[in-house]
Amino acid sequence: MSRLFDADFEDDNEVKKEILLRPENFKEYIGQKRIVQNIDVMVTSAKMRNQSMDHVLLSGPPGLGKTSLAMIISKALESELHVISGPAIEKKGDLAAILTNLGPRDVLFIDEIHRMHVSVEEILYSAMEDYRLDIVIGDGAAARTMQIDIAPFTLIGATTRSGLLSNPLRDRFMAHLHFDFYQSDELAQIITNNAKKLKITVEEHATLKMAKCARGTPRIANRILRRVRDFAVVRESDLVTEEDVSKSLEMMEIDPNGLDRMDRKILEVIRDYYSGGPVGIEALCATLSEDRTTIEDVYEPYLLKEGFLIRTPRGREISEKAREILNA
Ligand SMILES: Nc1ncnc2c1ncn2[C@@H]1O[C@H](COP(=O)(O)OP(=O)(O)O)[C@@H](O)[C@H]1O
Ligand SMILES: [Mg+2]
Repeated sequence: MSRLFDADFEDDNEVKKEILLRPENFKEYIGQKRIVQNIDVMVTSAKMRNQSMDHVLLSGPPGLGKTSLAMIISKALESELHVISGPAIEKKGDLAAILTNLGPRDVLFIDEIHRMHVSVEEILYSAMEDYRLDIVIGDGAAARTMQIDIAPFTLIGATTRSGLLSNPLRDRFMAHLHFDFYQSDELAQIITNNAKKLKITVEEHATLKMAKCARGTPRIANRILRRVRDFAVVRESDLVTEEDVSKSLEMMEIDPNGLDRMDRKILEVIRDYYSGGPVGIEALCATLSEDRTTIEDVYEPYLLKEGFLIRTPRGREISEKAREILNA
């Protein structure tokens, strides 16, 4: 299946390209005003107190700017950033080693924190609360707990599913900040800024069209922009036109509503196999031969937000709006 549109998919190449387009500071970080306001107060207070910033949890669908924000926060704090991925840490000892190596006021960013192994996660509890590790040595009657002090640090957790976090972990974050999809005008601003970074000029209509079809997601806006840039380059022009955008979107199989092939397939399967729903998520994923997490984390949030899909106690249904665009 095409992974072009999967905002969660990052190969090495993509990661490198993203570095170029990553916002460097709060000024370049567009939208998410409420989150930025919260963070601004927390950063300023930490700097005035000369202490570590409180722990924060960033949640929301992939590609909305969680990693970028964590980088900007650590820069604003003038602190060192350590980045790890939750599921990649297999042993308690690995996380303990990372925690004991942190310097005072450092930022530890744990991506996909909801996918951390429970046994590993447990050592975060005392680390977050008391800057201390409780390590059990030996077992049975001879078991003892050893305590190791660690530097006061800031944990920034990122998750696509805050609901999957265990309660003890969730409770230890001082702030829970949830990312919403971006408005078209915000995406247009991001596209304009990034076009400058890529040294191309984009017609206003072309920008608006890209913004409208980017699924409310900056990462997808960037992906479309790079595709569109290729079209202009091939034409040996550095002005991107609306037609370049139309052609790129067509090749990327993105329709005028910003839906990709998988989005439409989800809606069509519900319409054709389940008479429009309701259908349970398990049955739906089986029919689509798609992984449940991908459907729930990557596709559903946008379809729900745009009102194409409706969630009922008996499962997912498609809306009248979805029927209309499928018939169009
Ligand atoms: N608020 C924003 N302003 C400008 N660009 C953004 C913003 N949020 C995300 N981006 C762009 O989208 C890309 C993906 O964002 P990222 O922080 O990696 O998302 P996440 O970690 O939530 O999956 C970034 O490289 C950046 O270019
Ligand atoms: Mg990320």
